[in-house]
Amino acid sequence: MILVAPSILSADFAFLLDEVKRMEKAGADWLHVDVMDGHFVPNITMGPLVLHALKSKVELFMDVHLMVERPQDFLLPFNEAGAQLITVHVEASPHLHRVIQSIKNMGCQAGVALNPATPLGSLQYVLEELDLVLLMTVNPGFGGQRFIQAVVPKIRELAREKERRGLTFKIQVDGGINKETAPIVVEAGADVLVAGSAIFNNREPNALIHAFKLLPQPEKGV
Ligand code: DX5
Ligand code: ZN
Repeated sequence: MILVAPSILSADFAFLLDEVKRMEKAGADWLHVDVMDGHFVPNITMGPLVLHALKSKVELFMDVHLMVERPQDFLLPFNEAGAQLITVHVEASPHLHRVIQSIKNMGCQAGVALNPATPLGSLQYVLEELDLVLLMTVNPGFGGQRFIQAVVPKIRELAREKERRGLTFKIQVDGGINKETAPIVVEAGADVLVAGSAIFNNREPNALIHAFKLLPQPEKGV
């Protein structure tokens, strides 16, 4: 079944805990925590203190998406704050293999994210190590952007490679995911959907989350 991860970026920050609880009640699987540093992306969001404050009050699996330069400097603080999965960008990680090992050595799941223009080849030698690959379907930095259709063949290619090599990492997509684009990415092979504006700005997030979860996934080996 598809996992759904609402992106905290689209929450009303004046009522952050209420907003996160609203997602938990609506059936979300993960909370997608978007961390931006004003350098890797032109926006600033939150640090480990905010995650720590939320962690003890909700049960959601904490999925931390680091859109920061020098992600290696922030692994420990986010792990201690309650991250269960930490995803770093390949574009910000010249020593990618080392960063992945550092995440796993802390007992955390490890993910790597690729911007829309970054080729899959950059993951060739680390795929075996990963719990998750995040394919960005917008350029990171802001919620509410338009889905980039050109990433769909990249999702399909990654799903084929995963099956060919018998690997088990999850394929997450992030950016512009809504009721029109979700079926397209799931058909291509995505199994974790991040959605910010589509879920938070929805009067009935339960219905949308459940519709996402029930999207038909492609059969293996076809
Ligand atoms: C973009 C973030 C996303 C964003 C998604 O830089 O990584 O998680 O919040 O928002 P929507 O779903 O509105 O495109
Ligand atoms: Zn994100």
